[in-house]
Amino acid sequence: MAEYKEAPADATAAQKLLNWVDNRFPLSKLYNEHVGEYYAPKNFNFWYVFGSLALVVLVIQIVTGIFLVMHYKPDAELAFASVEYIMRDVPWGWLIRYMHSTGASAFFVVVYLHMFRGLLYGSYRKPRELVWIFGCAIFLCLMAEAFFGYLLPWGQMSYWGAQVIVNLFAAVPFVGPDLALLIRGDYVVSDATLNRFFSFHVIAIPLVLLGLVVAHIIALHEVGSNNPDGVEIKAKKDEKGRPLDGIPFHPYYTVHDIYALSVFLLLFSAVVFFAPEFGGYFLEYNNFIPADPLKTPAHIAPVWYFTPYYSMLRATTDVMVNVLVGLIAIGAILAVLKGGLSGKGKLAVIVGALVAAGLLKAFDAKFWGVVVMGGAVVIMFFLPWLDRSPAKSIRYRPDWHKYVYGFFVFGFLVLGYLGVKPPGVWGTPQVMGMAVDIAAVTSQILTLSYFAFFLLMPWWSRMGEFKPVPERVTFAAH
Ligand code: HEM
Repeated sequence: MAEYKEAPADATAAQKLLNWVDNRFPLSKLYNEHVGEYYAPKNFNFWYVFGSLALVVLVIQIVTGIFLVMHYKPDAELAFASVEYIMRDVPWGWLIRYMHSTGASAFFVVVYLHMFRGLLYGSYRKPRELVWIFGCAIFLCLMAEAFFGYLLPWGQMSYWGAQVIVNLFAAVPFVGPDLALLIRGDYVVSDATLNRFFSFHVIAIPLVLLGLVVAHIIALHEVGSNNPDGVEIKAKKDEKGRPLDGIPFHPYYTVHDIYALSVFLLLFSAVVFFAPEFGGYFLEYNNFIPADPLKTPAHIAPVWYFTPYYSMLRATTDVMVNVLVGLIAIGAILAVLKGGLSGKGKLAVIVGALVAAGLLKAFDAKFWGVVVMGGAVVIMFFLPWLDRSPAKSIRYRPDWHKYVYGFFVFGFLVLGYLGVKPPGVWGTPQVMGMAVDIAAVTSQILTLSYFAFFLLMPWWSRMGEFKPVPERVTFAAH
């Protein structure tokens, strides 16, 4: 136990109160460690505002969520009408609801940009692996939170979107149908499903999410922030032990972040007040029709932030599985022919390839689609160990790495676009008597390149000519 410290005789009433608290709860200590004396690199740029923005959006979602729950009814008979009641009759209900629905999309915009910053500057590399892993877990929780929340308005898209996604679990070998039943709580999406999704959306996932965000920030403050140069500022300290290139978070970055926040709130308000549906991307038009279990909408698409993964799911067809088997066969043949492998090594490669190909063909392509979709997120957890580049930041990597990143982002966006559109959107010309869906082939190629980006990273991230990484951060006052 820390020793009791008396306040100085001339302390003001406020100082005495703080002293009283500090003797019982480490308030000043926490403030100093995380704000007042948290030394952040002085060269932060635009990309570093998205963490604080994500915190703000989290608060917006929790506060507006609390008010929505006061009027929302988690009952299949009443849910749709209760949302309309919030929109039309509850004073300011429309504002709260639009803030919450826009907040969901804003969360993903901000978090995708936040993650991309990590990729640009190698922020997941040692010693920040856990910061990244907590981040990836947060991302999974966010996806679950958005998915559960989307069922609550009980519109056509809510209903059929949940139906499609829950049915995917039925494709899991052996336990699939029971698993889907467990998730739904019924043989079809019904009131029981709505009740459990409500419970997950308002309490279970938010609790986990909050815990993970706290862990994310504690882990970050333990090791200190990375920066656009990818240089460790703790390597060079002054006689008081403060990093030479560090500046206190407050006031420098509180001001930086408040500026970013005001720009963000301008954009956020513009959407909330002038385009809350955002052309059907933030609130899908079909969701203004009450759920009807007897009428399947012609085109079911998830909200935009899920569509890159949804495209990957749709891309995993029987043909794609055959291509994968072909790739495994070619890889195994090349490995065996290349030499350098012992007899046992060759045998292991052949057996491994046969097992992999056998497994791929043993289960339905739908199941592999689910694996691909889940794998696309899970693979991100391994990024700290996949990237072997001698330089953390993109600034000191070979120029062509920028094109690799550029193509990765472009591919992700195209997958996102195609996921919103119905199949065949780019035409289905006849090739050798077969109708070829150009969009489907594009998403198959982009799905393969998405995974190649990660799986081949241990090789390509080391290749090329690296620029010398400076000892101190580069910074020009502005
Ligand atoms: C609710 C969602 C999230 C919140 C509130 C949040 C919050 C923060 C905050 C406040 C920071 C420090 C400021 C900054 O560097 O921008 C930060 C840093 C970081 N976050 Fe997140 N984060 C979230 C999601 C994620 C996700 C999904 C990932 C990655 C998968 C991630 C990875 C990182 C990394 C690697 C850093 C350290 C960056 C550096 O030092 O260069 N975060 N986060």
